[in-house]
Amino acid sequence: MERHNWAVRLQHWLVALSTFILIFTGIGQMPVYKRYMVDQLPGLGWSSDYSITVALHYGAALVLVFAAVFHLCYLIFSKKYDILPKKGDVKESFLIIKSMFGLGKEPPSAKYLAEQRVAYAYMVFWFAVIIISGLVKTIKNLPGVELPAGFIALNTHLHNLAMIFLLLGIVAHLGAFLLKPNWPLVPSMFTGKVSEEYARKRHPFWSEVVKKSSQENRA
Ligand code: HEM
Ligand code: HEM
Repeated sequence: MERHNWAVRLQHWLVALSTFILIFTGIGQMPVYKRYMVDQLPGLGWSSDYSITVALHYGAALVLVFAAVFHLCYLIFSKKYDILPKKGDVKESFLIIKSMFGLGKEPPSAKYLAEQRVAYAYMVFWFAVIIISGLVKTIKNLPGVELPAGFIALNTHLHNLAMIFLLLGIVAHLGAFLLKPNWPLVPSMFTGKVSEEYARKRHPFWSEVVKKSSQENRA
């Protein structure tokens, strides 16, 4: 069964790739790679060169902003709102997480588990903070622009804080795929597909809707 079409996979991988580059080059600007000798590792000699890390940071920021705008337009025009959080999702997320550790039965889901919709909202919030504070930093760097020192300091703290919360989110996101019930989802972000059996068992509300619409299309 198709779970993620090419447009969704493109959005996901543009966000993932640009985010990894932004985290690496952002930390590089602090600057820590010389002190901790990361730049002595093979192929990473460039990592302590500010002019390179800052150029890569701007390049990856452009890709992330493009992917974020693409995602917003995709949500609005495709009207596929399955990933947006709903009332009761936080409570249901606890039931799902408990069930993954053998405590109780997992409630049947629609396309996304309640816990995934909550994770999505968390990531959207911190991506918005990092993009807005990044844009403010970009404006501050333009020649002739003077902003109040207190505002710049607050903005820098927000940019760095958002990085920490995003890092935690990414660790949790990747950690979730170590749990067996989530294994069938991993190939779906590469091939776009999951097995019908998996969808029927874990996402019955979604699998029913897909089946009905394909029957209607055939009729
Ligand atoms: C910066 C890195 C990444 C970010 C910000 C990110 C973000 C997201 C978000 C927001 C979702 C939708 C909701 C969710 O399932 O939680 C998602 C789905 C997914 N991600 Fe990532 N991701 C990243 C890296 C990765 C990597 C490296 C993998 C490789 C295994 C991966 C695999 C997946 C899969 C398989 C799904 C689909 C889950 C499903 O079909 O329900 N992600 N990602
Ligand atoms: C996941 C996304 C991102 C991460 C993890 C990240 C992280 C960082 C870090 C750690 C720094 C160095 C410390 C600081 O000056 O605050 C930094 C600097 C900076 N970031 Fe980001 N950032 C991200 C996205 C963005 C975006 C989207 C933009 C622009 C729209 C941006 C623009 C900047 C600018 C202009 C600087 C300062 C460069 C300089 O003047 O030295 N960042 N970022």
